[in-house]
Amino acid sequence: MQIFLDTTDTAILKDLVATGLIDGVTTNPTLIAKSGRNMLEVITEICGIISGPVSAEVAAMDVAGMLAEGRKLAALAPNIVVKVPLTREGLTATAEFTAEGIQTNVTLCFSAAQALLAAKAGATYISPFIGRLDDHGANGMDLITEIRAVYDNYDFDTEILAASIRSPQHVTEAALAGADCATIPPDVFLALFKHPLTERGLQQFMADWAKTGQSIL
Ligand code: G3P
Repeated sequence: MQIFLDTTDTAILKDLVATGLIDGVTTNPTLIAKSGRNMLEVITEICGIISGPVSAEVAAMDVAGMLAEGRKLAALAPNIVVKVPLTREGLTATAEFTAEGIQTNVTLCFSAAQALLAAKAGATYISPFIGRLDDHGANGMDLITEIRAVYDNYDFDTEILAASIRSPQHVTEAALAGADCATIPPDVFLALFKHPLTERGLQQFMADWAKTGQSIL
C-alpha cells in the first residue's frame, strides 16, 4: 500500500520523506488555510520535496472554473494530481481532465455508488473519507471493502486512496480491505512505528548488549 502524507507542513514533510517511506502528498483547502501560505507557493514547494503524486484541490464549484483551476495547478509540476469534489460538476471536470491526460483525485467520497461514477469518469484516485463516516455513525472501513469489490468486478484502474485516516488501526484496516493507498496525517504516520513491546524489547537488548562490553565497529 502506498503511503501519502496529508499535510501542507513542508518542514514536517521534508523530515518524514527522509524515511524513504512516503510515496506522495495530499492537501485540501483546510490544510492550505492551516498553513497560512499562498496555495500555489506551498504546492510548488511540496512538489520540489517529493517526486510522487501531490494532490492539489480546486476551489471552483462549476465545471469551467474547475477546468481552469485544474489546468493551472497541473502546470505547476509534473507530479500534480488535481483534486476535485465528488459532485456532478466535479465528475464532468474529471472526465475532461482524464481526456487531457491530467491526473485526478476525486475527494469527499462517502458511498460505493459515488466511487463507481468516479471510476467511470476515469479518476486516477478515489478518496473515501473513513474517519468522517465513523463520526457520522457508519463504519467507514466498510466503504473501502465495498469499493474494492466494485472496482475488482469491473477491472477499474482507479486507485482507492483511503482518506480521513485518524489512527494506526485505520491504516491496518484499510490495508486489509485492499486500499491501494492511504493518506495519513503526520502524527498518525509517526504512531505507526510504535509498539510498547518494540520499546521494551529494545531496552532489554541494549541492556544485555552493554553487559557484553563489545563494539561492532
Ligand atoms: O484530505 C482529506 C482527508 O484526509 C481529511 O481528513 O481528518 O479532516 O476528515 P479529516
